[in-house]
Amino acid sequence: MAEFTLPKNSKIGKGRHFPAPAGAKQVRTFKVYRWNPDDGKNPSVDTYDVDLATCGPMVLDALIKIKNEIDPTLTFRRSCREGICGSCAMNIDGTNTLACTRAISDCTKAEVPIYPLPHMAVVKDLVPDMTHFYAQYASIKPWIRTQTPAPDRERLQSKEDRALLDGLYECILCACCSTSCPSYWWNGDRYLGPAILLQAYRWIVDSRDEDTGARLDDLEDPFKLYRCHTIMNCARTCPKGLNPAKAIGEIKKLMLARRG
Ligand code: SF4
Ligand code: SF4
Ligand code: FES
Repeated sequence: MAEFTLPKNSKIGKGRHFPAPAGAKQVRTFKVYRWNPDDGKNPSVDTYDVDLATCGPMVLDALIKIKNEIDPTLTFRRSCREGICGSCAMNIDGTNTLACTRAISDCTKAEVPIYPLPHMAVVKDLVPDMTHFYAQYASIKPWIRTQTPAPDRERLQSKEDRALLDGLYECILCACCSTSCPSYWWNGDRYLGPAILLQAYRWIVDSRDEDTGARLDDLEDPFKLYRCHTIMNCARTCPKGLNPAKAIGEIKKLMLARRG
C-alpha cells in the first residue's frame, strides 16, 4: 500500500469545517488538503460532511458536489470521469488512485483523507505540478522512431507482436505509481520513475520501432533506470492494474543481454 506522505510545501494549519445540511441522512466526512499559493497561509485540511443520499457513488462525485454546493474554492483536476485521462489522480484514503474510479463505499477510514499526489510540488489544493513528470516523459521520445522509408500503407504488426504491448499501452500517465515510489521521492530529479520507464519499455518492445539500441543507450545511466530497487509500490498502487516494476525488470534484462 502506498502510504501517504505530506506534499513538499507542507506545515498543516487548522482547517474549516463544513457540516452537513440539516436533515442529511447518510453523512460521510471527507478531510481535504487545501493550499492556496495566493493567500500567504500555511496549508490546512478542511472537513466536509457530505450527504451521500444526494451524491454519486465515486470520490470524484463527492469532490464535485463539494465544489458545486458547499465550497466553490476547492480546486482539483478531472476530465473523463471514467479512468482514461488520468487527471484526477490523488491520494485517497491513504493510497494513490483515481478519484473517478474509487468508490466512496470502498474507502476504509471513517473520515476519508484526500491529499494531492505525494512528494510533488502543489499548484493549488489537490493539483500537483506535473511539469517535471511530463518533461521526463518527453525525454524518452514517446513515438515510433524509424530509419527505413515509410511503406505505402501503415507499418504492419503481427498479432503476436501486438500482444507484447498488452499491459503497457493501457497506461494513462496518471503518475500514481511514480509518486508512490520511494526511489522516485528521493531521486526524482534524475530517476525516471516507474511510469516513464513503463512507457520507455512500451516503445522498446514495439516491433515497428527501429531505435531500440538508441533507446537502451539513453537509459544506460546509474540514475535514470538503476534506482529501481523492486520495492513494488508501483504495481500495488496502479489504478489500471499495470506492473511497472515488471517492465523495469524487462529493460534491465535487455541491458544485460546486450552486454553479453
Ligand atoms: S519497484 Fe522500482 S519503480 Fe516500483 S516502486 Fe519499487 S523502486 Fe519504485
Ligand atoms: S503505470 Fe499505472 S499508475 Fe503508473 S502512470 Fe501508468 S496508469 Fe498510472
Ligand atoms: S477524470 Fe479522467 S481518470 Fe479520473
